[in-house]
Amino acid sequence: MRHLIDITDLSVQEIDELIATAEDIMEHPDKYAEACHGKKLATLFFEPSTRTRLSFEAAMLDLGGKTLGFSDAATSSASKGETVGDTVQVISCYADIIAMRHPKEGAPYAAAQVARVPVINAGDGGHNHPTQTLTDLLTIHRERGSLENFTIGFCGDLKFGRTVHSLVSALSRYQGIRFVFISPPELRIPDYVKENTLDPLGLPYEEVESMEESMPQLDILYMTRVQKERFFNEADYLRLRDTYILDPAKLQTAKPEMRILHPLPRVNEITVSVDKDPRACYFKQVANGKFVRMALILKLLEVRV
Ligand code: CP
Repeated sequence: MRHLIDITDLSVQEIDELIATAEDIMEHPDKYAEACHGKKLATLFFEPSTRTRLSFEAAMLDLGGKTLGFSDAATSSASKGETVGDTVQVISCYADIIAMRHPKEGAPYAAAQVARVPVINAGDGGHNHPTQTLTDLLTIHRERGSLENFTIGFCGDLKFGRTVHSLVSALSRYQGIRFVFISPPELRIPDYVKENTLDPLGLPYEEVESMEESMPQLDILYMTRVQKERFFNEADYLRLRDTYILDPAKLQTAKPEMRILHPLPRVNEITVSVDKDPRACYFKQVANGKFVRMALILKLLEVRV
């Protein structure tokens, strides 16, 4: 039985196969429409979500399966003190696969230790978000035709942005990637990401504060929201939340073929006037997320089509 807790649980070959399957599902949805008939996905969301939970549910429904779950810990017996371990053992009686989001880093890993069905980490605190990473990789692959040889700028809250940590980890295993980390000093990429992932592989990266100065060199600009829910101090959040606001004027020095990604939700960091720029890909990213989650469900349930 396989789980997906960290993106490194998948080999590069497996990631490439998931991307290929997702693209095949996009082209031939009917082929997959009954692939999970009789199977159930449980979505256990102890933290808010729009895209991840609903794209998982849409993915299972489009595979012919069914869904159950909760979208708020307050409506589950977690509110009475039930542990994650007990919750997951219970849900293992009802569902064939679990997608779980939790505010505590490592909670999906703990769940996987006792689950009797595959567990997918749908985001754990400020740590990891591997299925967003699969979504991001599929989007980059579709936009560029390859996952190699480009410069990616991550901009915003690189400290708490779990999607950033997972995507850096994934891209570090592809050839020819240069990383530019654009953040205020307080929201820099964590040392553990540099020390465990980038430095051992000798991968090129720079840490800067100016989005404008970095813009001309970027092939991908990955914007992020300042993660209000991870701050201990509201004053710090209010001071930092609008550090970067991408608007059409700032894009004037960007490459015509640059692509703008954002895991969403956005708050102020991309103005709506950017949405019509052909380089804006964040709503395509949302659409891609369902297909790569379909591919992942098929893989973890060992369903062959
Ligand atoms: N990208 C993402 O995780 O969005 P949600 O929080 O809406 O699931």
